[in-house]
Amino acid sequence: MAAKPTGTKTACVVGGTGFVASVLVKLLLEKGYTVNTTVRDPENQEKISHLLALESLGNLKIFKADLTDGASFDAPVAGCELVFHVATPVNFASEDPENDMIKPAIQGVLNVLKACAKAGTAKRVILTSSAAAVTINQLNGTGMVMKEENWTDVEFLISVKPPTWGYPVSKTLAEKAAWKFAEENNIDLITVIPTLMAGPSHTPDIPSSIGLAMSLITGNEFLINGMKGMQMLSGSISISHVEDVCRAHIFVAEKESASGRYICCAVNTSVPELAKFLNKRYPHYKVPTDFGDFPTKAKLTISSEKLIKEGFSFKYGMEEIYDQSVEYFKAKGLLKK
Ligand SMILES: NC(=O)c1ccc[n+]([C@@H]2O[C@H](COP(=O)([O-])OP(=O)(O)OC[C@H]3O[C@@H](n4cnc5c(N)ncnc54)[C@H](OP(=O)(O)O)[C@@H]3O)[C@@H](O)[C@H]2O)c1
Ligand SMILES: *[C@@H]1O[C@H](CO)[C@@H](O)[C@H](O)[C@H]1NC(C)=O
Ligand SMILES: *[C@@H]1O[C@H](CO)[C@@H](O)[C@H](O)[C@H]1NC(C)=O
Ligand SMILES: *[C@@H]1O[C@H](CO)[C@@H](O)[C@H](O)[C@H]1NC(C)=O
Ligand SMILES: *[C@@H]1O[C@H](CO)[C@@H](O)[C@H](O)[C@H]1NC(C)=O
Repeated sequence: MAAKPTGTKTACVVGGTGFVASVLVKLLLEKGYTVNTTVRDPENQEKISHLLALESLGNLKIFKADLTDGASFDAPVAGCELVFHVATPVNFASEDPENDMIKPAIQGVLNVLKACAKAGTAKRVILTSSAAAVTINQLNGTGMVMKEENWTDVEFLISVKPPTWGYPVSKTLAEKAAWKFAEENNIDLITVIPTLMAGPSHTPDIPSSIGLAMSLITGNEFLINGMKGMQMLSGSISISHVEDVCRAHIFVAEKESASGRYICCAVNTSVPELAKFLNKRYPHYKVPTDFGDFPTKAKLTISSEKLIKEGFSFKYGMEEIYDQSVEYFKAKGLLKK
C-alpha cells in the first residue's frame, strides 16, 4: 500500500505572526500540512519575516485578515480541513479594554467561525483559549483543582476591575461565544486552554509572556510584580513550553475522539516556589527568594488530566522550559552569556 503523500492535509492558522501561532505553523509544516495563515499586515516584511523564513519548510500561504473584518477570512479558510484560531487582541495597558480587547476578541471568534460555516470544508475548529478563562474567581483557600468544567467569574472581574481584568474577560466571553455559535451551527469545535508559555520564539520581538516568565531571572521589578499579581488574581503560576502547547493543538485536532475543552498545563507553581527553583538551578543570576508574607502555596492547581487521558504527553518540564528560555534570552542579548 502506498503511503499517503505528504502535503495533502490542509490547515488554516489565524494570526500567524504571534508567538504561539508561528510555532504552530512550523509544526504543521513539518508534519506535511499545507498551511494558509493570516496576518494583519502582510506588507510589513519585518513583522512577517519569521513566517517568510518558514516558507522553505513546505506549502505556506500568507493572507491578510483582521478579526474585525469578517469577509477577510473567507479566502484563507476555504478548502481547509482544520482551522486553528490563535489570534487575540492583547493590550494589558489598555484604558479601554471593552473596545481594545473584549469586543474584537468576540467579534473575531464569530467572524472566523462564520467563515468556517460558509466554507463548509472545516472538519474541526481549534480555538486557543486561556487559563484566564478558567481559574479566576473570588474563592479563598488552597488546594483547589481547576478543570475544564470551571469558568472564570466574569461578573466579579467586571464589577471589581482588578488590574488586567479586560484580558480574562475577553478570553472568557470569546470562548463562550465560540461554544454558542458552534452548537447552533453544528461546528466541531475544540478549545485548548494554555497557561503562561515560555520557550524560544521565532518572532522578531520578544513575546511579553516570556519576559514575564523570565522576570525573576532578569530582575525586572515591574514584571516580577506582574507575576505576583498573576498568582493573586489567577490563583497560581502555571507554565508550559510553547511547543508542548502547539503539539497539544495538533493532537486534539487530529484525535477523532477529542471533544470539548482541554486544559494544557505542564507545571503548577507559585512565585516563591518558582524563585527557589530558579535560584538553585541558575545561582549566578541571584534570583531573589525572600518574598515576605507573599503566599508560597498557590491557591489552586490546573489539571491537564483530560488531555493526558486522551493520550497526550508533555515533552518539557520546568527544567527544559527554563533552560531553553535562558538560552533564548542569551542569544537575544537579554542575559549575559
Ligand atoms: N502567551 C501566553 O502565555 C498565553 C497563555 C495563555 C493563552 N494564550 C493565548 O494564545 C494565543 C496566542 O497568544 P500569543 O502569546 O501568541 O500572543 P501574541 O504573540 O501577542 O499574538 C497575538 C496575535 O493576535 C493577532 N491579532 C491581535 N489583534 C488582531 C486583530 N484585530 N486581527 C487579527 N489579528 C490580531 C496579532 O497579530 P499582529 O501581529 O498583527 O499584531 C498576533 O498575531 C492567544 O489566543 C492567547 O490568548 C497565550
Ligand atoms: C488556501 O487559500 C487558497 C486561496 O484562497 C485556497 O485555494 C485554498 O483552498 C486554501 N486552503 C489551502 C489549504 O490551501
Ligand atoms: C475571600 O477573601 C476576600 C479578602 O479577604 C474577601 O473579600 C472575599 O469575600 C472572600 N471570598 C469568599 C467567597 O469568602
Ligand atoms: C468547578 O466546577 C465544578 C462543577 O461546576 C464545581 O463543582 C466546582 O465547585 C468548581 N470549582 C471551583 C473552584 O470553582
Ligand atoms: C498540576 O496539578 C494537577 C492537579 O492537582 C495535577 O494533576 C498535576 O499533576 C499537576 N502537574 C504538575 C506538573 O505538577
